[in-house]
Amino acid sequence: MPESAAEIWERQKQSIAGGVMSLNRAIDPMRVFVRARGAFLWDHEGNRYIDYHAAFAPYLLGHGDEEVDNAVIECVKSGASLIGAGTTPWEGEVAEMLVECVPGLERVQLTNSGSEAVVYALRLARAATGRENVLIMQGGYNGWMDYVSYNLMDPASVLEDHEAGERYPLRPITAGIPKVVEQTVRVVEYNDVEAAERVLAERDVAALILEPILQNIGVVKPDPGYLESLRELCDRYGTVLVFDEVKTGFRHALGGYQSVAGVIPDLCVFGKAVANGYPVGVVGGRESVMAHCAHPDPARRVVVAGTYNAHPFTVAATKATLAKLMSREEEIYGELERLGARMEAGLNALFGKRNYPATVVRQGSAFVVYFMDRAPRNWREIAMDNDADKDLAYRKALIDAGVFHFPVTTKQGSISFAHTDEDIDRTLEITDEVLNRLG
Ligand SMILES: Cc1ncc(COP(=O)(O)O)c(C=O)c1O
Repeated sequence: MPESAAEIWERQKQSIAGGVMSLNRAIDPMRVFVRARGAFLWDHEGNRYIDYHAAFAPYLLGHGDEEVDNAVIECVKSGASLIGAGTTPWEGEVAEMLVECVPGLERVQLTNSGSEAVVYALRLARAATGRENVLIMQGGYNGWMDYVSYNLMDPASVLEDHEAGERYPLRPITAGIPKVVEQTVRVVEYNDVEAAERVLAERDVAALILEPILQNIGVVKPDPGYLESLRELCDRYGTVLVFDEVKTGFRHALGGYQSVAGVIPDLCVFGKAVANGYPVGVVGGRESVMAHCAHPDPARRVVVAGTYNAHPFTVAATKATLAKLMSREEEIYGELERLGARMEAGLNALFGKRNYPATVVRQGSAFVVYFMDRAPRNWREIAMDNDADKDLAYRKALIDAGVFHFPVTTKQGSISFAHTDEDIDRTLEITDEVLNRLG
């Protein structure tokens, strides 16, 4: 008998702290995955799942995209190596592609992850403004670093007394952040312009950072005019506006969500879909802010350093991903929208015929089902009104039936270019059966 997933996990706890690498991957019940291709995952017992988790969303083109993988294989074979001195032609090529694609990118730097890119963005904002404080959003996730690790999915009980327009008390999502860091972080509600203005009016905020759509708590969209108002406020109070497009970037458009919204931030960060699953982050933005990377005054210069930054293999993956997206932009984004719309219509029909209190929210290929009667405008509404038990039961039942959504409430689903009509229709059939069972 092969070991069960639970047995493997128990054994691995003897060597891996917590039994799984990157502990936000821990799921209940534990599963052990060994392979993925296109729209599918396989676990160690050979069970196949239609994948909508997409490894927390990088797989825009699907797992194992041939053009991207072949570019990496060719790069390995070519003798390209990490030299760690001087520049390379390919890092310039990828930078030119990024600048061409995204309106807010005049200059860029590459990192190995979204979290690193966020940290550089905050440093750059501080260097450019001479201020220290950072404003983040309740329900936003901007990576695991100290300055942004607060107020993600707080329970209703601690949000109940919060008054609209007010700052939130800080609630770290991790142990180990020095208390002193708290003095530099402010948190407000997403879609609350008044609250943001109150904080910015204190005139000590270096950066306002937000996901333009909150996609770590499903798909929470900006109210009409919200991003425009933040842009205007940041201009008025001299704060650097940072869009964290690690999830929205390249998923919704080649120009990021900023190109869809028509609001251009001062700085923006990307990751995930930009390299279709290979580890790359991008920080970039206005030339005047990015110039601090090489400021003549050492006291105003931001150190950007990383042994593996712009590693040739991950640059090859990024170039191949961007080349595919750029050369087939209309086709790929058109198809992602079409597949997303098919999923949304199908889910609405399934919930509608049961009179189920569920709301499907979608932006292109990103979607979520909230177990509440409306699309939420912020995390507080979700914490108060989303039926978390139903949400979790639904996800677990889908996984058992061969459709993989991450089994944590409100986690966004991602459709890839490798999904087909048949996959969506099969997903809907399975969902129908699951809903029959759950009642
Ligand atoms: C919006 C957002 N920003 C930043 C990050 C951090 O990126 P990484 O996990 O590559 O460090 C994530 C990761 O999920 C994210 O969703």
